Amino acid sequence: MIRFLQAQLWRLCAVGDEYAQEQQQLWRDALPDIRITITYAQTLDGRMATRTGSSQWISGAESLRLAHELRASHDAIMVGVGTVLADDPRLTVRLVPGRNPLRVVVDTTLRTPRSAAVLRDGAASGTLIAHGPYADPERQRHLTDLGATLLPLPTGVAGGIDLQLLLEQLAARGIASLMVEGGSRLITALLRARLASRMVVCVAPKILGEGLSAIGDLGISRLADAYHLSGVRVTALGADQIIEGDLVYP
Ligand SMILES: NC(=O)c1ccc[n+]([C@@H]2O[C@H](COP(=O)([O-])OP(=O)(O)OC[C@H]3O[C@@H](n4cnc5c(N)ncnc54)[C@H](OP(=O)(O)O)[C@@H]3O)[C@@H](O)[C@H]2O)c1
Repeated sequence: MIRFLQAQLWRLCAVGDEYAQEQQQLWRDALPDIRITITYAQTLDGRMATRTGSSQWISGAESLRLAHELRASHDAIMVGVGTVLADDPRLTVRLVPGRNPLRVVVDTTLRTPRSAAVLRDGAASGTLIAHGPYADPERQRHLTDLGATLLPLPTGVAGGIDLQLLLEQLAARGIASLMVEGGSRLITALLRARLASRMVVCVAPKILGEGLSAIGDLGISRLADAYHLSGVRVTALGADQIIEGDLVYP
């Protein structure tokens, strides 16, 4: 009797696995044709910035070089306007040879300052800013005058730019690979929407205690529903560990 029940249980598990794989395939088929890699540096306790928003630099020199290699190997690189305001990144490839990817900023109300590094010194022509329907027309004009490409999009149900539509627009512009460098809100939104396909996370042997969590609420209550990585590779780079793999959404 026990053997019979065990056999039934195994059968149920197998059906469950098949169902999960089918769901995963359906989800993949519905995604825009663009491969999204999320990458960031975090402390041992999962912070990507201090409580005051300072994050430069959590990782060591070797990991920064890897970040530039990753930039060079993607068609576009995307950040939220929160990162532009906090870090003023240039989002260019400097530490290794390679071409600069298209820079993409999601910025509903066009808070990106005209003096931002993604716009300065001729950089604007390689920068696309996705904004919401009610962005101030004068700010729009200032940014287009600088040479930036503005992409008006509707906002999504959770607020912010509709990311699915943005990805479709980027795919239509020939972008096949997108690297998302942060910050926390943008990464969380992409994960919640199950849009990202790969993660490359630098874990530095530092502890901050209070600070900005790399990833916010994903609405997961049961451990069985945790997202996980497959094909995981862990590499030591200086004092940091680089953990990378393909995202699996249960
Ligand atoms: N350690 C690292 O590797 C690393 C990397 C990058 C950043 N950081 C740190 O992260 C912090 C910034 O992160 P953050 O979470 O405050 O900001 P963020 O994720 O860079 O930007 C979030 C902002 O982007 C805009 N946005 C538009 N559409 C969105 C959407 N669909 N989903 C999410 N955001 C959308 C929203 O502002 P609007 O409503 O105005 O559009 C939102 O507040 C800084 O302290 C920075 O230093 C660390």
